[in-house]
Amino acid sequence: MNIPREFIELLLAKVDVVDLINTHIPLRKKSGSNYFARCPFHNEKSASFSVSQPKQFYYCFGCGAHGNAIDFMIQHDRLNFPEAVEALARLAGMEVPRDATAVKKNDALPGLHELMTKAADCYYDQMRKTKRAIDYLKQRGISGAITKQFQLGYAPAGWAYLNDQLGKTETEKKQLAEIGLIIKKNEGQGYYDRFRDRIMFPIHDYRGRLIGFGGRILDQGEPKYLNSPETPLFQKGHELYGLYQAQKQNRNLDRVILVEGYMDVIALFQHGITYAVATLGTATTTHHLERLFRYTSELIFCFDGDEAGRTAAWRALQVIFPMMNDTLQVKFLFLPDGEDPDSLVRKEDKTAFEQRFETALSLSTFFFQTLGKQSDLNTMEGRARFAASALGHIKQLPPELFQSILLNELSKRARIDLAELKSQLKSNDDTDSNVIVFTKEAAKGKAPTSLKLALALLVQQPSLANELSEALPPSQLPGYPLLLKLIEIIQQNPHINTGTLMEYWRGQKEEPTIAKLAQMEHLIPESGLKNEFLGAIRKLFGLSLNAGIDRLLAKAAQEDLSEEEKQELSRWIAKKKEDNNNQ
Ligand code: UTP
Ligand code: MN
Repeated sequence: MNIPREFIELLLAKVDVVDLINTHIPLRKKSGSNYFARCPFHNEKSASFSVSQPKQFYYCFGCGAHGNAIDFMIQHDRLNFPEAVEALARLAGMEVPRDATAVKKNDALPGLHELMTKAADCYYDQMRKTKRAIDYLKQRGISGAITKQFQLGYAPAGWAYLNDQLGKTETEKKQLAEIGLIIKKNEGQGYYDRFRDRIMFPIHDYRGRLIGFGGRILDQGEPKYLNSPETPLFQKGHELYGLYQAQKQNRNLDRVILVEGYMDVIALFQHGITYAVATLGTATTTHHLERLFRYTSELIFCFDGDEAGRTAAWRALQVIFPMMNDTLQVKFLFLPDGEDPDSLVRKEDKTAFEQRFETALSLSTFFFQTLGKQSDLNTMEGRARFAASALGHIKQLPPELFQSILLNELSKRARIDLAELKSQLKSNDDTDSNVIVFTKEAAKGKAPTSLKLALALLVQQPSLANELSEALPPSQLPGYPLLLKLIEIIQQNPHINTGTLMEYWRGQKEEPTIAKLAQMEHLIPESGLKNEFLGAIRKLFGLSLNAGIDRLLAKAAQEDLSEEEKQELSRWIAKKKEDNNNQ
């Protein structure tokens, strides 16, 4: 990430999250400094979406969506982080600074995209002039309209067509080579065309910029498909063929079907299934899925029905597991032997093909089915093995409903007590000191611990940190390092608000904790905040002192303390006396 933090803070200071959201959904003023609306991120009749001006933070009581202005752009406009910063900066009339190398690289890219477009135009032109290419497309049943929409083309036979057309100068040749369209000769001088006598499939990124090509041989030969190499424009493991067209065709992508081939996407599209995308000859990656889930919450994987298809599906399941949450629906469709979506959709119509989705396996069914095949569930040993391997996967899921559902199902299938499975699941939980487990204390009428209260108040009203008169003592309490870090950041930026504060933890393991703190209900009136905060800190102070004193005393019983430790101990004991006298 090359965007300097100072810029992000400036940007968040300049953009008001209330104004920003109000341009997308009308906000109503309701209580105190909060605005309300119907949530744009889930379907609802009542207004549970709240936006706080002082916190510069939004939160939905219905679906839990939350964040600052950048998060709103990410969620609402389906952007990634740099894109969201870019878009907000445009709104604010600011320019995103980047480090020198990034500027240089980015400056060159528009020229390279443009060159790609010129190449696609050349190939399209050649296709229209070449009977062999037209006949091939016809024989595969591809209509003229689809050819145009997907800009299918033809790279002529011979070694120098594109090089001659577009590589007039040495600079142009270098650029063509940089985007993988021509290749430098090993011996001697000059370049030759990478794609020769092939049907060309231009590949767009999600914004419609041309980034690469796939080229199919017309007759027999190897390789059947030749793809652009990895270039500054093109990263195979990130891109999805057809996403741009699908998104252009459909205002909302309610579901997306993920297939294997270029021809599958095109044939489905021509038959009215305009929401198919394909990976580019690679297995599904986290990058692919992250991108897709910005557009849709229902994903149907489409695989061959054979052993290879099952293996590929299992691999995809493993990639998707850690990303699953309660809002996503994932299914696995296995096709009849010897068919692919292209051949199948030509035989049946759109309706029949879409009916297959009804019979697709849900993620959980496919999960248990596959694991079940690997163990004999009629023996105790087999069931134990089955449960152990299932638990290994279930552990990776976020602790949401979907995890509970799988756990329940596992309990039935393995005939193991649910409570036992739950304790197994917890046993080697990540006990990271800064990831705090939130229980429903408030619901049970129990007050949160001093530490949690201090953390929550600080995140919600950062200016409270400026009330602290002395540094906090060291402590081993979980969550304590987070408190120190918060105080440090706020004391360096005394006017920081919640939304901006959260940026410090974007993408880090503490992020969900900070988000929960930001929306924790404490029911303390505005006027009492300062006293409650200082009270909580005082308690913590006492706890840490006691713990520190106990630790050093215990150590002293075993070995000699260092000079430093002795001093520390006497300082803490004196401090404790002083505190006791004050109470
Ligand atoms: P398939 O071999 O299943 O071909 O490759 P297909 O999509 O059915 O193609 P047609 O119908 O014969 O034209 C599936 C995908 O795997 C990648 C391509 O992305 C292709 O669409 N692939 C395949 C390659 O990258 N290189 C190859 O040589 C073959
Ligand atoms: Mn095919």
